[in-house]
Amino acid sequence: MTTQEEQIRPGLRFPAGFAFGAATSAYQIEGAVTEDGRGPSIWDTFTKTPGRVLNGHHGDVAMDHYHRYRQDVAIMAELGLTAYRFSVSWPRVQPTGSGAVNQKGLDFYKRLTDELRQNGIDPWLTLYHWDLPQELEDKGGWPNRDTAYRFAEYASIVHEALKDHVHTFSTVNEPWCAAFLGYASGEHAPGRREPRNAIRGAHHLNLAHGLAVQAMDARRAGGCVNLYAISPETGSEADLEAARRIDGLQNRFFLDALLTGRYPEDVLNDIPIDDDLVRPGDMKIINAPIDVLLVNYYSRFTVSGAPGGKASAAAAPTDTASPWVGSEHVSFVNGGRPVTAMGWEIDEGGLVEVLTRVARDYPPIPMVVSENGAAFDDVLADGRIHDAQRQAYVEAHLGACREAIDAGVPLQGYFAWSLMDNFEWAWGYGKRFGLVHVDFDTQERLLKDSAHWYSEIIRHNRRHEPTDS
Ligand code: FCB
Repeated sequence: MTTQEEQIRPGLRFPAGFAFGAATSAYQIEGAVTEDGRGPSIWDTFTKTPGRVLNGHHGDVAMDHYHRYRQDVAIMAELGLTAYRFSVSWPRVQPTGSGAVNQKGLDFYKRLTDELRQNGIDPWLTLYHWDLPQELEDKGGWPNRDTAYRFAEYASIVHEALKDHVHTFSTVNEPWCAAFLGYASGEHAPGRREPRNAIRGAHHLNLAHGLAVQAMDARRAGGCVNLYAISPETGSEADLEAARRIDGLQNRFFLDALLTGRYPEDVLNDIPIDDDLVRPGDMKIINAPIDVLLVNYYSRFTVSGAPGGKASAAAAPTDTASPWVGSEHVSFVNGGRPVTAMGWEIDEGGLVEVLTRVARDYPPIPMVVSENGAAFDDVLADGRIHDAQRQAYVEAHLGACREAIDAGVPLQGYFAWSLMDNFEWAWGYGKRFGLVHVDFDTQERLLKDSAHWYSEIIRHNRRHEPTDS
C-alpha cells in the first residue's frame, strides 16, 4: 500500500461501478446567450431586471463553457471523473419553447457528449435546470398547464437527437426551487410572488416530469429532487407541526408524487390549491416508472412554529417573500452547526438520513447523489487554493454515502456540485462552489486542493474496482 493510499479511509471505498461525477447547469456556465440561434430564457430577463441578482451579475458570458467545453472535458478527464451531469438549455434547442428546433443548439450537445464519451465519461443529461424559454413565461410560465406539454415535446426532441450519446436522461432539476423560489418567494426567475401560482407551478413541473418520461423511451430516465433533513427546534407541538409542514412541502410533496403517484393528504390541507389543478390521470403520469432518483442534498433545516420565531442567517440576498406557501409562519433557526459561505449548516448525517428514508419509505428505486458541495471564500495564494473546508465537506458527505450503502441504500453514484465556480443564481458570481477555480476575468481554470483530493479518491477506487464490490 502506498502512502497515498493509506490516506484514504476505508469509508471512502465504493462498490465497483459507483459513479464519481461532478455537476453543472447550462445557464450557470455556458454563456453565449445570443449565439447560434439561442432564444432568451427567464434567467436572461431576470438578471437584467435591477435588484434581482446581487451586483447585477448575469450569465451572458458565465464560464464561457459553450466555447471552452473541450478544455473543460479535458479537466474532467484529468480528474478521472466517470460521469458528468450537465443540463441542456431549452431555449438553445427550441428558442421560443415550442415549434421550430434549432439544430445548432442540438449540435452543441452532440459535440459535448461525443467529447465526454471519447474521454470515458458518462453523460448524465438534465433537461431542465430552470432556464425556461421567455416566450413560455409570457404565456403564463409553469402555472400554465400547457407548459408541461411543451416540455414533453422538447424532451422528445432532445431524446431523439441524443439518445445514443447519453447515459441517463433526467427531467426537472429541483422542482421545489423552480416552483417556490420562482413563483412564491421571487428569489429566482421569473421572480413572481404568487403563492397559489407557485402550487400550480409545482404540480405542472411534476406533470412535465411524468410526460417527459413517457415521451422518451430512454434506456435510463430519472427524476430529481432536492431533499433536506429537517428537525424541529424543540419537542413542542408547534415545532413538531412546523417540521411536518416543511418536510411535507420540501420533501414529501415531490417524493410521494413521483414515487407513489399521490400527493400527501396533510400537505394538500396545508396549501391553497385550485379545484381544477390536479386532473384525472395526472398522478399516474407523474408516477411514470423511472430508473433512478437523483437526490440533491446540501443541508439540514431546523424549524420552529413558535410565534415570533427568528429566521436564521441563511436568508436570500435580495428582497424576497416566503417560499413556504401555506406555512409562511414557520421560522428557520440556527441549529448550532458550522455553516458554509451560503450560511447553510453542514450536516452529513442528514444525507444518510434522507437516503435511508427514501429507501425505507418508498418503493425500491436506485439513487444517486446528483448534487452536493459547498461554497467557501477561496483564497488564491502562490498559485494554489487550499480549500480544506470544501474538501472536508465533500469527504464527510462521501463518507455519508458509504454509510448509506452499508445501510442497504441502492446508491449508485455521487456528483459534486460543482465542477467549477459559476453563476450562483441570485448570488451572481459572489459564491464559489467549484472544485475547479475560475478566474472570472481571464476564464483561467485552476484545480483547487479539493479537486486534487477528489481525483485521488476516484483513482484509488478505480484501482481497486475489479476486486472491490
Ligand atoms: C442547487 C442548484 C444548483 C446550485 C446549487 C448550489 O439548488 O440546483 O444549480 O445553485 O444549489
